[in-house]
Amino acid sequence: MAGVWWRDGVVYQVYPRSFSDANGDGIGDLAGLTARLGHIAGLGCDALWLTPFQTSPQRDHGYDVSDYRGVDPIFGDLADFDALLARAHELGLRVIIDIVPNHCSSDHPIFQKALAGDESARERFHFSATPNNWPSVFGGSAWEPVGDGTWYLHLYAPSQPDWNWRDPRTAPFFDEVIRFWFDRGVDGLRVDVAHGLYKAPGLPSLPDGVTPEPGRLRGNPLVCDQPETPGVFRRWREIADGYDPPRVLIGEVNLEPGRAARFVGPDRLHQAFAFGFLVAPWSAGAWRAAGEQVLRHPPVTWVVENHDVVRTPTRYGSEARARAALLVVLGLPGAAYVYQGQEYGLPEVDVPEEARQDPAWERSGMSRDGCRVPLPWSGGFSAGPGCESAESGPPWLPVPEGWDRYLESPTLPLCRDAIALRRLLQAEGVLSADDPVVWSVDGDDRLTARRPGFALVVAMGAGPVAVPDGEVLISSGPLAPDGRLPADTAAWVREDVR
Ligand code: BGC
Repeated sequence: MAGVWWRDGVVYQVYPRSFSDANGDGIGDLAGLTARLGHIAGLGCDALWLTPFQTSPQRDHGYDVSDYRGVDPIFGDLADFDALLARAHELGLRVIIDIVPNHCSSDHPIFQKALAGDESARERFHFSATPNNWPSVFGGSAWEPVGDGTWYLHLYAPSQPDWNWRDPRTAPFFDEVIRFWFDRGVDGLRVDVAHGLYKAPGLPSLPDGVTPEPGRLRGNPLVCDQPETPGVFRRWREIADGYDPPRVLIGEVNLEPGRAARFVGPDRLHQAFAFGFLVAPWSAGAWRAAGEQVLRHPPVTWVVENHDVVRTPTRYGSEARARAALLVVLGLPGAAYVYQGQEYGLPEVDVPEEARQDPAWERSGMSRDGCRVPLPWSGGFSAGPGCESAESGPPWLPVPEGWDRYLESPTLPLCRDAIALRRLLQAEGVLSADDPVVWSVDGDDRLTARRPGFALVVAMGAGPVAVPDGEVLISSGPLAPDGRLPADTAAWVREDVR
């Protein structure tokens, strides 16, 4: 790849519970992941992002950390993590790990001390005798009673108390956490809820009539995007830049791109995720608007799937559209993120209610389990290379009948070919992360994103569209006999030399 790995590369997101199970307990683990790293390298990815594997009671599947420097026993131990890192590096893959600084687990020893009544420990969280009216992102109130006349703040589940970033001990605590992982050799961090952290001073109630959009932190301006928060990342950037090679910080800054841009720069986060395509419907106008808005704030990370949203074949309505969307994210300037299973065109699964595990399900009736179903490896989730046990328990979420048919999905060769071609075009200098993009939409819902010498075109309407003049390098499905691009198909076209 020409360019800088985190800025121009392809990053594969691993949700370790559901990736590959080596010890046969039905839950994916680090050894299972290490044994299958060849799959990720074979796709041509530059890096992987590993969602939380640190010690946790798993009430939000790892986004509730009780020891920031440990590996949860269901995933293995620190030696397994070191082996994973070493093997990934041997294969040329960088490793980004998740870090969760907005909240911890209610099992964290400091929170346990606070619960036991230790005043000094209570100051490290938000305890109050007069809770305000803030809602939790997962539904209900953001305050949980302790039983002694006080409540504590949890913007997510009650098992995820929020750290008080105004307490002088919080920042140094996390400095040590990030150094611990950088010292071990991780290449970067994905920062969970990076727009959260600081809350409005004094924790005032929302004014009457202001009702935050359910399910999203950003709907409540008093709990996110506070002026002090980017300062945390200035501090982290100094630490990251002190390593050789410098480590990288990528933030889940779930704000509109103009606001998120304040968190990014040479002295703060390297990048913030651009979520525009996650919320845009299948419409050329909506994609142009999202794409234009995102590109106003480079460097960009393109993403259409992750562990929190409905998988694209279901969200957009077909596997063909999902394939087209994949070709779009791989064909725009900036980093592209691919979520495990996206390369197989996996759809969202309607997980039976009794099997749902997402803590948001109980509180709000909204479940993210359907995009977290274990991967369909041939031979089974718990039977791959590295599997130590012939016996295996059922997977932690039920896998639908015939799930392994997706191993034959045409999305897989498309994904490999597109990543290989992307690398080639980057190496030839045809594509660069700094390319300007001109977006256009024609009457027949043809979306075009044009870079010098290269057009990305998507047929987003009901019928076929004309392909711009030039050489079709790849398309997400066959062209029509008359050379047009069928509905729900994308193509990369090499236009006249720049
Ligand atoms: C993660 C979610 C998690 C939440 C709370 C997010 O934005 O992506 O999976 O539930 O943070 O940590």
